[in-house]
Amino acid sequence: MAIRIIRTDNDPILRKLSKEVTVFDEKLQILVDDMIETMHHADGVGLAAPQIGVLKRVIVIDLYDDEGPMALINPRFIDQSGLQIEEEGCLSLPGRHGMVKRPLSVTVQFEDIDGETYELTGEELLARVLCHEIDHLDGILYIDKQVTVENKEA
Ligand code: CO
Repeated sequence: MAIRIIRTDNDPILRKLSKEVTVFDEKLQILVDDMIETMHHADGVGLAAPQIGVLKRVIVIDLYDDEGPMALINPRFIDQSGLQIEEEGCLSLPGRHGMVKRPLSVTVQFEDIDGETYELTGEELLARVLCHEIDHLDGILYIDKQVTVENKEA
């Protein structure tokens, strides 16, 4: 496993569309392992592959609860409901925070590392992290959706 460099700020790769994963091989396992290690090293609760310069639809999440780290390949929303407005930050936008509107509950379909399809329903923090990380796969950052003016932007 290796810690990868997290792309930040105006790096153009953060704005690109990531491609669907079609090959579930050892290379994908290495990517997932490196993403989890990189997320843990940065004390993050989530990381998307484009943040380490890989334009593949892969996200990892760890809420540091009993669930442990999760890897979701090709995550897509199949349901969402409710509304929450909470503060978010991003490992790619160090030192910044902003309030963002998200659904309170989301259900996501995804493949695991072996290509098996599963569903995951998350509420509150998990819902927010799922939305935030899936946005990264479409080149969207939380600052695009934040509902208050950021202090550091003059
Ligand atoms: Co982020």
